[in-house]
Amino acid sequence: MREKLVITIDGPAGAGKSTVSKVLAGQFSYLYLDTGALYRTFAYKVWKENIAPDDKDRLAELAKRIKIALENENGNLKILCGGKDVTREIRIEQISLLASKISAQPVVREALLSVQRDMGKNGGVIAEGRDTGTVIFPKADYKFFLDADIKERVNRRYKELIARGECVDFSEVKRDILLRDKQDREREVAPLKPAIDAIAIDTTNMTIFDVANTILKIIRVKEAAG
Ligand code: DC
Repeated sequence: MREKLVITIDGPAGAGKSTVSKVLAGQFSYLYLDTGALYRTFAYKVWKENIAPDDKDRLAELAKRIKIALENENGNLKILCGGKDVTREIRIEQISLLASKISAQPVVREALLSVQRDMGKNGGVIAEGRDTGTVIFPKADYKFFLDADIKERVNRRYKELIARGECVDFSEVKRDILLRDKQDREREVAPLKPAIDAIAIDTTNMTIFDVANTILKIIRVKEAAG
């Protein structure tokens, strides 16, 4: 097996990307690059500073000064914005929608591009997102695109939010996911779509561990074949 591979895991909300990426990062002892967390943190600042999501000048100004750091703490990802721990705040639904909105702005994507490439430049990374296989790491060693049917994706997201103590309604979660799907797939820059060389996995009827094992098996078989 080669060392320090770059592995990308893309797909829509609720497809199972985050959990699978964490499991894989643990198995390989790789860095887990949660690119959605970067967009969420950017959105958090936009929200805190009352910036309109389409105000390109203010977004550009924020892009110049925002300081985002991802730290691994005992296997858990900690997200810092200007030194403040925002790990929990960035996961609320309001931030999910705002992250999706501002991620359509080229100025935001450009600002976050170099941060992501820099984190993966030495390999040994599981990069999870919407465009890690198409734009951020087009030469990744392995690319996977996870998807699941809408009912299952909403169900997973709903359970995740409830487990986190959020008071949400199933139909609201469905509406938000559909809206994010539309925004993320239809934007002009780096839309959500599988890279042509990505391996697609339908996770609808699979557990997260099935998905992680399927990916591990594919990588091990290919690496053994050279
Ligand atoms: O993966 P996530 O739910 O944490 O991502 C939140 C939003 O961030 C998502 O709806 C779109 C945006 N995003 C993106 O545009 N590109 C990425 N690589 C990751 C996330």
